[in-house]
Amino acid sequence: MDPFLRKLGIESPIIQAPMAGVSTPEMAAAVSNAGGVGSIGVGSVDADATRQMIAAVRARTGRPFQVNVFCHKPAVADAAREASWLARLGPDFARYGAKPPARLTEIYQSFLTDDAKLAVLLAERPPIVSFHFGVPSRDRIEALRAAGIVLLATATNLEEGKVIAAAGIDAVVAQGYEAGGHRGVFDPDGADDRLGTVALTRLLVRKLDIPVIAAGGIMDGAGIAASLALGAAAAQLGTVFVACPESSADAGYRAALLGPPAEHTVMTAAISGRPARCLANRFTALAKGIEREAIPNYPIAYDAAKELHAAAKAAGEFGYGAQWAGQGAPLARALPAAELVARLRSEMEEALSDRLTR
Ligand SMILES: Cc1cc2nc3c(=O)[nH]c(=O)nc-3n(C[C@H](O)[C@H](O)[C@H](O)COP(=O)(O)O)c2cc1C
Repeated sequence: MDPFLRKLGIESPIIQAPMAGVSTPEMAAAVSNAGGVGSIGVGSVDADATRQMIAAVRARTGRPFQVNVFCHKPAVADAAREASWLARLGPDFARYGAKPPARLTEIYQSFLTDDAKLAVLLAERPPIVSFHFGVPSRDRIEALRAAGIVLLATATNLEEGKVIAAAGIDAVVAQGYEAGGHRGVFDPDGADDRLGTVALTRLLVRKLDIPVIAAGGIMDGAGIAASLALGAAAAQLGTVFVACPESSADAGYRAALLGPPAEHTVMTAAISGRPARCLANRFTALAKGIEREAIPNYPIAYDAAKELHAAAKAAGEFGYGAQWAGQGAPLARALPAAELVARLRSEMEEALSDRLTR
């Protein structure tokens, strides 16, 4: 067992990824009670909802859990770009008898500027806090550390990993290009080497002095065992938990994930304004060929996507949803989260003992 996990008091090197809008306190508690690390994503909710979600996890478990926030550069509004984006989506709204909204807004605030959310984290002191899309200022990091909170942050390349290590963060999540959901890139408009989970995990294990958590395309115990063989302290799995009954994925998302659509995923920035991996659906189809510059900033673009999804869904069409999923999507399992963790643990042990006896 890795010393980092021992320090956290975790039995198994299995972390359920924080998934804003999809993972729930019920899921997080079930995973933590089963010996892994359960997580809630509070990047898209405000400070009050953050407090309530933390309380909901605590009501169900006394074990360690993770709370994840978004550290993106705050959006820059551009009225002309947003208007032409809405005009572009107009025919899709019209197909479902709806009209695009008059204007778009920044539907949630970055943790970089959200003092109220910081205050909640400092008051509630969840055992683990993680950062996606960047890292906050040094004083925020120091305040969280002084509160006894273990800190994690996502890196998609070595440069981001170095920033994370230098910032005094306890461990880094190596998020490969295979991963479902938003890519944690610090600069969504910068060059992206699209490193896969294997190469990135090895790079960070060999070049950094902090523990590495592998993420992206890991769907079973063999994948977790492989991550450990690469030198990771643990694996973080998102997509495999989306079909659990504790997730808040809607019926269309679940059906797509558990059916043939799971065989194709697409990386697109058109849904939210930042690159994210989604099941191929009506939204990813309409996004094909769209120039990056046409898409409003994150999360302003997400406002339009959510409105379009709601309009289509009201007419029975689920294909405009942010159906985030990684490349391993066809291996998702519709099992209660506790049972899924138990299976992942036994598969991992089997894979590890196979290696030892071979
Ligand atoms: C539905 C979904 C939502 C996600 N939301 C978040 C999030 O809020 N914060 C975050 O740090 N990562 C988020 N991720 C990315 C995960 O942390 C992780 O990198 C990814 O799930 C790993 O790849 P996998 O999905 O192939 O297991 C999300 C992933 C998915 C599938």
